[in-house]
Amino acid sequence: MRGENVTPFSLLHAVSLLTHTSRVHKFRRALECTVTPGCHVVEFGAGTGVLSMLAARLGAGQVTALEVNRRSVDYARKAVQLNGLSDTVTVVEGHFADFCLSEGADILVCEMLSSIMLVEPQVPACRHGVSHVLRAGGTVLPASATVYLVPVECPGVLHRFAVEGLIFPPAPQTVDHGVARDLADLVPVVHFDFGDPDTPLHVEHRVQFEVADRGTVHGLLGMFDATLTDDIVLQMEDGWRELFLPLEAPVQVDRGDLLEVRVAYTPGEPASLELDARTK
Ligand SMILES: C[S@@+](CC[C@H](N)C(=O)[O-])C[C@H]1O[C@@H](n2cnc3c(N)ncnc32)[C@H](O)[C@@H]1O
Repeated sequence: MRGENVTPFSLLHAVSLLTHTSRVHKFRRALECTVTPGCHVVEFGAGTGVLSMLAARLGAGQVTALEVNRRSVDYARKAVQLNGLSDTVTVVEGHFADFCLSEGADILVCEMLSSIMLVEPQVPACRHGVSHVLRAGGTVLPASATVYLVPVECPGVLHRFAVEGLIFPPAPQTVDHGVARDLADLVPVVHFDFGDPDTPLHVEHRVQFEVADRGTVHGLLGMFDATLTDDIVLQMEDGWRELFLPLEAPVQVDRGDLLEVRVAYTPGEPASLELDARTK
């Protein structure tokens, strides 16, 4: 078993996700289409247990809700009891990488999507789950996700790194929609197929943006959408904030310029982010 503090995700944060009702509602609709009577569902990163309990309510015969944060584990266990689902839902404390199932689950649920999958381990968790937990032909929810980037002018965020005469290394920050000014159109950067055991563990791409407006590129905004089923897609407005990725040095751009950005990161490892931008 790995350490209790392996996730930056606190219990309070997990509980706050209950207020993202459209996110939970979309998962419930996707589970409705997927859960068959008596099936075995495994959830990686169960938090409060909300998605696991919905799977049980929809007729799953056995639900294993795995969670690494001990406080969230205790909370989810209480919730399972409160809802009279203890016969079906088992909350297990542990890291996904230590969890294997020889008989193979029918459905793997994993929602560690936040922040373009840079911060949370959605990608390694699904890769592990598909190889060591899911039966052949089983379903992963969500099935896939696409990450998009856009260069932005956003001096306000950079002010966060200069406080009372002290300076700090700029780091990725979630921001409210509208805080940054887009200087080009959004471009899809990477697509993750969570059902593919070989979905890339490392992202490295060069992306070109045609600049639409004169300004200063302070960084890029990252966002994603994630497909649960063909017609149910999770969008940022279902409960996520955009992630501002600062450039080491701002780049001045003019309308019509081509801005080339190299982005590289290992999903689940925020410190791995590398970002360079220059006009061509
Ligand atoms: C975005 S929350 C989702 C919680 C819940 N599934 C929901 O939809 O409300 C992700 C959860 O994954 C857990 N987590 C992060 N890393 C993990 C790991 N390595 N193994 C198991 N759980 C992990 C976090 O503690 C957090 O509770």
